[in-house]
Amino acid sequence: MPSVLVLNGPNLNLLGTRKPEVYGSTTLADVEAMCRDAAGRHGLTAEFRQSNHEGQLIDWVHEFGARAKAGECIGAVFNPGAYTHTSVALHDAIEGAELPVVECHISNVHKREAFRHHSFISPVARGIVVGFGVRGYVLAIDGLAALHEEGRASS
Ligand code: DQA
Repeated sequence: MPSVLVLNGPNLNLLGTRKPEVYGSTTLADVEAMCRDAAGRHGLTAEFRQSNHEGQLIDWVHEFGARAKAGECIGAVFNPGAYTHTSVALHDAIEGAELPVVECHISNVHKREAFRHHSFISPVARGIVVGFGVRGYVLAIDGLAALHEEGRASS
């Protein structure tokens, strides 16, 4: 069964206790369960990873890019946290590994501080889900699965 990678960047391990007025009270373990259900509805398994370290995230993007090319993975739902706004290296990794990515943000970053308005990830993302709370992860999995099916139908 092919997989979908759900990748979370820095501080998302604090979900549930970090700024609940912005990010809600759902924990990352709850999000993982939601993602496993959503993936299962599309006949996929969810591979769930979180790291506070940019290099580790880059290594996973490379690994899963290769697995996507091998047909073992349909791509990734990626919440890069604050690296969204800073990381040329993650931009280059996604582009270089050709990993299909749906960028996902729990909060509406465009309603927040100006430094959150720019994303280095968006230009290399297949799609973007912003501001739907943690249900955005499920919407992003649905969207990535739809894009994947569309690609298969037209090839
Ligand atoms: C976030 C938004 C980022 O600006 C922030 O640094 C995060 C979480 C979100 O999911 O809304 O860590 O990616």
